[in-house]
Amino acid sequence: MNLAELFKKFFLLYGTHENQPRCFFAPGRVNMIGEHTDYNGGFVLPCALQYGTYLLIRSLAEPVVKLASTNMEFSAEIPLTGLNQKVNSQWVNYPLGIFDQFRQLNIPVNGFEMLYSGDIPNSAGLSSSASIEMVTAYALTVLLNARQLEMIDLVKMSQRAENEFIGLNCGIMDMFAIGMGKKDHAIFLNCLTLEYKRVSFLLDGFRLIIGNTNKKRGLADSKYNERVAECQLAMTYLGRDTDVSKLGEISFMQFYKMQEQIPDELIRKRARHVISENQRVLNAVSSLLKGDILQFGALMNASHESLRDNYEVTGIELDTMVGAAQKINGVLGSRMTGAGFGGCTVSLVRENTVDRFIDEVGREYQEKIGIEPTFYLAEVSDGVKEIK
Ligand code: GLA
Repeated sequence: MNLAELFKKFFLLYGTHENQPRCFFAPGRVNMIGEHTDYNGGFVLPCALQYGTYLLIRSLAEPVVKLASTNMEFSAEIPLTGLNQKVNSQWVNYPLGIFDQFRQLNIPVNGFEMLYSGDIPNSAGLSSSASIEMVTAYALTVLLNARQLEMIDLVKMSQRAENEFIGLNCGIMDMFAIGMGKKDHAIFLNCLTLEYKRVSFLLDGFRLIIGNTNKKRGLADSKYNERVAECQLAMTYLGRDTDVSKLGEISFMQFYKMQEQIPDELIRKRARHVISENQRVLNAVSSLLKGDILQFGALMNASHESLRDNYEVTGIELDTMVGAAQKINGVLGSRMTGAGFGGCTVSLVRENTVDRFIDEVGREYQEKIGIEPTFYLAEVSDGVKEIK
């Protein structure tokens, strides 16, 4: 849906008057490397995408918030006094989680008319939910003139909304990439200190292909929280004689010496993934800085292997798609991206191999899995903004 149509839809829904709606956009993100490291205080390297969520919003005199979307049938009109109540498992809980954060910060809100429209596939691991949260947080900050809030505050509010209101114990990566993203740059973030650098990610002669397995992540949330708990358990063993509290603070050399302190092989494998993945992010950033794109691709492949064998969050769909991609000459690296358990892969591909990739990976995936995949050419884009 283009913007003119979106405005039309807004006026059809809410009527026209002098007070014009304003338009905001928050992207989705693709993580290049550093998977399941964020909630362990580790490193990540995500990029903001050209796909995302648009929000048209207008202040209202009445004490009611009206929420609608072009993607979902469900819409709601909620009185200001009812904003802290969840609505079953509806999409409006993402914006409501943000309203709840404003309430917790004692920032009074007024009524609004809001229309959302997204072009990120849902449940694909490209952060459609963080994108809804961030576009809401940013738009409310502007409309309520809440100048005390900086971008990092909006990022933290969105993460808290997800943790407290939605109940997913996710890390900060998605919101951070959406808040701080920049065209042609990857965000190298230390999730423990929140220090970050924007690393040039100009892919001259290469393209990023996102492959959607179209396998929805039904059980993702419970399995995700299970991995979070397993990492906390690993830390109770490894942290006994040290003052570190997160797996991301332990180097691979240290882990190598300490790993026997974890009695259970399954928990040891979880820790091995996080700690080795953290080192891979550091290596990936130095290979980008050196312009060694081959090495970068090899690290993507190694990341997938560890997510499959140590962290066990891939599954047959992601493994089949990544396996088909890695066989092709001209594919430098391929891995799952996001939480896993279905969702998307990301592959770094020579420009002249894009058609062959889509053809061959698409065919092999469909033959083996029986689901038609979807492919997108990613463009590394800016973070959340107002569109004037
Ligand atoms: C999801 C979460 C992120 C991160 C990734 C895995 O996208 O929202 O915080 O943990 O999974 O790296």
